[in-house]
Amino acid sequence: MVGAWVAEAAARRFEITRVMDYGILLSLLTGLALAAPWPAGIELNYPKIGIKLVILVALGAVLGIGRARQRRTGQPVMPLFVAAGVLPLLAAGIAVLW
Ligand code: HEM
Repeated sequence: MVGAWVAEAAARRFEITRVMDYGILLSLLTGLALAAPWPAGIELNYPKIGIKLVILVALGAVLGIGRARQRRTGQPVMPLFVAAGVLPLLAAGIAVLW
């Protein structure tokens, strides 16, 4: 997610791209794998996992709405592009700091 976002920002395109869709899918799959209660008995921080899921749903909305509006107007949508960068960084910040 962040890699695709930085690439867009560096290229001054500011578009929401399909690579970001792959990124969000990958973070969901890896996140769910890490959240599996296996081996039995390990402690999991469920509030943290829940908040990361909520962030991911919000990010999915940002990507979906952003893609649709981009297609309709033919222009990048700056607030949504910014959100598409901030939300994964927030998730990573929560992952590392909490
Ligand atoms: C944009 C989305 C996400 C990003 C950027 C992200 C980032 C990270 C990072 C950097 C770590 C390593 C933390 C460390 O080793 O200190 C981590 C761990 C983890 N993530 Fe995520 N994550 C995302 C989404 C999710 C989702 C959706 C879930 C669960 C449904 C999830 C569950 C976990 C779990 C269980 C761990 C291991 C335990 C922990 O360190 O808390 N993550 N994540």
